[in-house]
Amino acid sequence: MKIENSPLSSENQKSAQERRSDYFDSGVGTTLQKLHSFMRFVSRQDVAKHRAYVALFEMTRGIVGSIAECGVYFGQGLMTYANLAAAFEPYNYQCRIIGFDTFEGDRSHSEPDVNGNMVDRSVWNYEAKALDDLQRAITIYDLDRPLNHLQKVQLVKGDLCETAAAFMTAHPETLFRIIHLSVNLYLPTRSVLQHFYPKLSRGGILAIHGLNYSAPGAQRALSEVVEQQFGEKVDLRTFEYYPNLVYSVRQ
Ligand SMILES: C[S@@+](CC[C@H](N)C(=O)[O-])C[C@H]1O[C@@H](n2cnc3c(N)ncnc32)[C@H](O)[C@@H]1O
Repeated sequence: MKIENSPLSSENQKSAQERRSDYFDSGVGTTLQKLHSFMRFVSRQDVAKHRAYVALFEMTRGIVGSIAECGVYFGQGLMTYANLAAAFEPYNYQCRIIGFDTFEGDRSHSEPDVNGNMVDRSVWNYEAKALDDLQRAITIYDLDRPLNHLQKVQLVKGDLCETAAAFMTAHPETLFRIIHLSVNLYLPTRSVLQHFYPKLSRGGILAIHGLNYSAPGAQRALSEVVEQQFGEKVDLRTFEYYPNLVYSVRQ
């Protein structure tokens, strides 16, 4: 089942989302006027999510590295980071935004993802076949930013169980300032942590969605790889306005 609303939404919230969708289609203004007044249309949850991304970006100002968005979906997080980078660090060419996704929905489920899970991930599927569409978004984004002869946003298609290792083999120079994980599943999360975490700069941030709530597989991967395999303590924190996101600053 594809996800339109969060499986954690109440009936009232689903109804508000339907009204929001109708309002976007029928509200006054051209498409550009709607984009310029986008706060008319977005939910408080999306505003809070946006603020959390801004906070992670701000906390890692001056830290060397790129931003890995692991789980792109329709590109909300990816293009948030891309726009923040272009708006606030237009000359920081060494920070790239790299989005990893199958672009065909969730893959590589395993037993830890269902054990004690409040979201049945074998039923719900975050599927967005958005690779070509996001390339269009990136082309438009590139039209109006400084240093646009240098690539800023890169998309990597495939299952992270394979692409995480392959990416580091192809780009061994890569360092990260943010590793942002929202795939929610044990195996791809484990693969990202094994191959990317050693390249997270000190002061950089590891951010994972759904810990202590809806992603037990991601939580297990964190414990097995970062704490047990690498022997590092994580100091997990969240945002009270957006508790779906948990993060740790690398010491
Ligand atoms: C919850 S969505 C990501 C939301 C996104 N960060 C945003 O800002 O809207 C989860 C994404 O993870 C991707 N995904 C799931 N399993 C994957 C895997 N094994 N490898 C790569 N991507 C995967 C899905 O295709 C989906 O787009």
